[in-house]
Amino acid sequence: MSYLSFIKESVKNLRTTGTITRSSQAACKAMVSFTDFDSARNIIELGAGDGVVTHHILRRMHPDAKLLCFEVNDLFCEQLRNIKDDRLIVIQDSAEKLDEYMKKHQMKQADSIISAIPFVALSKPVTRRILTTCQQALKEGGVFSQIHYSLVLKSIYKEIFDGIRIKFVLKNIPPAFILYKRK
Ligand SMILES: C[S@@+](CC[C@H](N)C(=O)[O-])C[C@H]1O[C@@H](n2cnc3c(N)ncnc32)[C@H](O)[C@@H]1O
Repeated sequence: MSYLSFIKESVKNLRTTGTITRSSQAACKAMVSFTDFDSARNIIELGAGDGVVTHHILRRMHPDAKLLCFEVNDLFCEQLRNIKDDRLIVIQDSAEKLDEYMKKHQMKQADSIISAIPFVALSKPVTRRILTTCQQALKEGGVFSQIHYSLVLKSIYKEIFDGIRIKFVLKNIPPAFILYKRK
């Protein structure tokens, strides 16, 4: 999908996309940098958009690993389904149903959850519910990472992920914070 088409689709759905630009290469690299791709076999991506981060994950993923990718937007899901890779499972549904789809795809626990869900656009109860499910879905040693453009929700992360850490990425529009935590 062209950059312009991505912007158009994002503007049209600003309430669910939360931004009009894709994550930059620097932000994508930062988001995936906490995952141990040599050992990870079960990876989850939330809010995949048209797949900018997905490609970074797939490039580094083990041949036997599986990627469950959640996205709610029709057009973005169409783009994701165009990625021809047997390891990728596109789920056109809300990240709120993470549990249900993990069971369906025989994923007991996740090695890594990489998210770009615009939680600032969601209610606090829904945000708490999704983040708690993520925390519970991770195996010991598994890692969660999430991109944000501000730290307004930091206190919710602190409640759910004890000792959450933050990496700042200047080379992104707007500059971004990657919140991450190893369980
Ligand atoms: C900020 S965009 C990120 C796109 C891409 N991952 C990137 O980093 O550029 C957020 C994406 O999350 C999706 N989204 C919003 N709420 C969602 C939900 N509850 N479950 C799954 N995806 C959601 C939006 O449709 C949008 O594509």
